[in-house]
Amino acid sequence: MCGIVGYTGDKNCVPVLMNGLTALAYRGYDSAGLAVWEGDSLTLRKAKGKIENLKNLLKESPMSGKSGIGHTRWATHGEPSDINAHPHTDTKKTLAIVHNGIIENYLKIKEMLISHGCVFASETDTEVVAQLLGYLYRGNPLEALKQAVSMLEGSFALAILFADDPKTIYCTCKDSPMVLGHGDNESIVASDIPALLEYTRDVCFMQDRQIAVLKQSGIEFYDEFGVSIQKTPTHIDWDVESAKKGNYEHFMMKEICEEPDTFRRTFEQYVSIKDYTLKSDRFPWNTARAKSFDRLTIVSCGTAYHAGMLGKKFIEHMANLRVDVEIASEFRYGDTMLKNGEPFLVISQSGETADTIAALRRAKELGCETMAVCNVTGSTISREAGSVLYTYAGPEIAVAATKSYLAQIIVLYLSALDLAQKRGEMSQEAVTARLKEMSRVPAAMQKILDNKEQIQFFASRSFAVKHVFFIGRGMDYALAMEAALKLKEISYIHSEAYAAGELKHGTIALIEDGSLVVALATQPQLQAKMASNMEEVRVRGAHVLTVTNGPWEGAKGHSHTQWEIEQMDDTLAPLCAIVPMQLLAYYLAVQKGCPVDQPRNLAKSVTVE
Ligand code: AGP
Ligand code: GLU
Repeated sequence: MCGIVGYTGDKNCVPVLMNGLTALAYRGYDSAGLAVWEGDSLTLRKAKGKIENLKNLLKESPMSGKSGIGHTRWATHGEPSDINAHPHTDTKKTLAIVHNGIIENYLKIKEMLISHGCVFASETDTEVVAQLLGYLYRGNPLEALKQAVSMLEGSFALAILFADDPKTIYCTCKDSPMVLGHGDNESIVASDIPALLEYTRDVCFMQDRQIAVLKQSGIEFYDEFGVSIQKTPTHIDWDVESAKKGNYEHFMMKEICEEPDTFRRTFEQYVSIKDYTLKSDRFPWNTARAKSFDRLTIVSCGTAYHAGMLGKKFIEHMANLRVDVEIASEFRYGDTMLKNGEPFLVISQSGETADTIAALRRAKELGCETMAVCNVTGSTISREAGSVLYTYAGPEIAVAATKSYLAQIIVLYLSALDLAQKRGEMSQEAVTARLKEMSRVPAAMQKILDNKEQIQFFASRSFAVKHVFFIGRGMDYALAMEAALKLKEISYIHSEAYAAGELKHGTIALIEDGSLVVALATQPQLQAKMASNMEEVRVRGAHVLTVTNGPWEGAKGHSHTQWEIEQMDDTLAPLCAIVPMQLLAYYLAVQKGCPVDQPRNLAKSVTVE
């Protein structure tokens, strides 16, 4: 969503804050700003647009200081502008504040403050918090913050500098992430880990309504009642380099090329390579529990939802267990048939998606046994779910999910195998045979990456396309959902996923000369049906690109272009076939000159509703 950074220590904080905001830029934003304690006053610099604009402003009018806060904004209340950019201050400039989230009761508080003579400068909900703190402040920052937090509804991660206590940064959060660390005589707070790693690897994650007081000497933590608490740091072992672009033009290409390694790292966490057996204790259900399941409910958003749709196919096909998959924003406010004790699984790369967190909390209230597939240790979802199946994709910087989706479907596939074995649907031998075959997938992916130029060439001839339809049946339909989202979110080309057999019930009216139809046909038992769907669109002028699992003679005459993945078990094919789909999206976006890593309007983690 947006990025928050705060620093207090011996260094000039301006470069520290700017580096931190740059490390968080992948989260998506539309303006940026800093507040620094300089000399004997709070100084602000704010600029609409990219961080570069703030850098230029700082060149024109530099500032420096030993403590400060920075922010990249993703506007929710008030258009992107210099005035609405953070930080915000109260009228008397007794404090400066940066905020991530949405204050849902800001209007009511704003009216109260205006009735007490407060004059607002911006349209934001954040300035309401600044003015409220200024209104409540009687010389004790902790007291004022406690009172303000008790009045706020909605989501917030706040970092505040008080003029009376300029070397100290006060932080609190609710339904919005904050991570803090103490380095060498310096303390730093940020929205996410990459902004801290240069200063410390031992970080603390804030929990809702806790308050942190950052001083040069260390960090004090308090609960919402102001009672001092201790927090145990988490050691972060991934390196700063893995959060950098290296020789790649975009993070997204780097992360697609990391997928064979992501596969191996995630696979080996759940499979004993010496004898190709599952590490069954890594899964949050024992045999008795697995047998007792009547239904598994999966809830997530976006790409993670598409991973859930593919997980449904895996689990129903192999473990003979019914799976219901729901979009988190629908689940959280909809009717549910969930009963006490039922298994409930959320999927989230960031572990901070507001809708998914809310769905998880609702399931816990209903008494469900909650589990999560998550990529970030210490994230809200990984802390609040009853158990976690971690993916080992490492930091994913590009807004478009690629390696994290792959890691999710690997974990879901292995979960399907473990459930199948524990429910007596697959023998140990059958599971071992499948795991051996699965271990070949990274090499098959590497072959696609080694020949990615053919995909780049196809994209160079197709980038003028206006509408793309991804069609498939069974697992391929679930895969088509993710392929369509990947393309539209980074190239802005209208793309839709369609059950191939459903096209003729209306949507085929959209097919015309020049339409691009990508037929995902990796399931041999469905290929005959796919052939007729491909013919239906081909004769109406579509260019048909077919993706198959090894050679498929039947495609000839029904498609113009064929991409083959190395022949493998039908159920494994989607794990590999997603790679050419991600590359197709990438190259089309590059052809169109789109900002691939940070597409317009998007954020890496949607921490607001
Ligand atoms: C997909 O490329 C997007 N980044 C988006 O759909 C994302 O998958 C969704 O917002 C869920 O995020 P999460 O996995 O971090 O919960
Ligand atoms: N709601 C605040 C605003 O619109 C903060 C948005 C954000 O998370 O960046 O300024």
